[in-house]
Amino acid sequence: MTKPAEAAPGDTLLRVDGLKVWFPITEGLIFQHHAGDVRAVDGVSFDLARGETLGLVGESGCGKSTTGRAIVRLYRATAGSIVFDGVDVATVEGQALQRMRRRMQMIFQDPYASLDPRQTVGSIVREPLDVHGVGTSSERRERVGELLATVGLNPAFGSRYPHEFSGGQRQRIGVARALALQPELIVADEPVSALDVSIQAQIINLLERLQASFGLTYVFIAHDLSVVRHVSNRIAVMYLGRIVELASSVELNERPLHPYTVALLSAVPVPDPARELNRRRIILQGDVPSPVNPPSGCHFHTRCWLRERLGNPERCVAEVPAARDIAPGRLVACHFAEDVDGSREQRQSTGQGAPSTAPAPSSYAPAPDPAGSAPTASPAPGA
Ligand SMILES: Nc1ncnc2c1ncn2[C@@H]1O[C@H](COP(=O)(O)OP(=O)(O)O)[C@@H](O)[C@H]1O
Ligand code: SF4
Ligand SMILES: [Mg+2]
Repeated sequence: MTKPAEAAPGDTLLRVDGLKVWFPITEGLIFQHHAGDVRAVDGVSFDLARGETLGLVGESGCGKSTTGRAIVRLYRATAGSIVFDGVDVATVEGQALQRMRRRMQMIFQDPYASLDPRQTVGSIVREPLDVHGVGTSSERRERVGELLATVGLNPAFGSRYPHEFSGGQRQRIGVARALALQPELIVADEPVSALDVSIQAQIINLLERLQASFGLTYVFIAHDLSVVRHVSNRIAVMYLGRIVELASSVELNERPLHPYTVALLSAVPVPDPARELNRRRIILQGDVPSPVNPPSGCHFHTRCWLRERLGNPERCVAEVPAARDIAPGRLVACHFAEDVDGSREQRQSTGQGAPSTAPAPSSYAPAPDPAGSAPTASPAPGA
């Protein structure tokens, strides 16, 4: 079990503690028996302050989506707790669960698959209002127009069908639907991974603008660091169902302390040619091992460059590394994280230590946002 990282005192919206989500595997045609478990999430802990964005990053299959789905209770936790605004989500049922669900929404990766092609855009966005019985029929219609305008779409588009829109516009429709019930928390599961790079920036800018306007709190999931590092206050790096490092976005990018984070960062281009020239990518050998039978001790030990450098210490195989506070606000689950700090690999992954003349980028390079510049409507009070 990892240790929760500190969020702003007194303003914690979400607290995840020791979360496990295991999917049972059954075998046998007539007499089925329990043959094992997919340990999709295997002891994840973090806190999230109101208004904060936590990035969740890691290779495909490491448990990011399962974590997100458990938070909004699309999946039940096998162990551990998820406390939303002081209430354990596992204990809530019936109408109380409905009310809680209004307060947390999900945006999905694939804007093509997540919108019903047979429904008009208006009915897609209105659906959550219908399900939760919000307002009268004409109020809902009006609200749909407001929501479309909020995400930079023409309210008249409500009568059209999803196939008439581009990928970026479809993701805006997904965002409008997620906003319909005025949520406080949004779990955005790879919201831009299926989009062209120029469109990615537009959607990210939209999400940031909505956060500023409505005080939203985000869990932002992505498989590569280049996207999350620009939108997140803090980043949690996941590997095989566990968080291996958690730090502020700036610190994680300037001084990664887990060998896996160093490898991930080494693959992210630096827009400074002088730095880029002196960087070297760390190629991790092999695929992520199966979560059905994960490696003992440190899950990462089968692919770890540091372990190899240290002469393959037995401790990595025998002992699960606890998440420890290696510096203020920084959690790292590696027995030998001190050896990462200042290492050649760490410097090469960030481009530091190499000559640099150009200033480092400080924010995500925004592309023009032709589909809308500012929210034009706010979620209606009481809607
Ligand atoms: N409903 C499910 N049943 C069985 N295994 C699942 C299910 N959902 C996800 N998994 C498995 O759990 C692991 C983590 O999946 P996921 O959370 O989707 O990872 P990520 O989002 O990081 O790519 C993967 O090995 C995946 O195959
Ligand atoms: S505990 Fe060992 S195997 Fe795991 S990341 Fe650290 S050095 Fe690598
Ligand atoms: Mg996923």
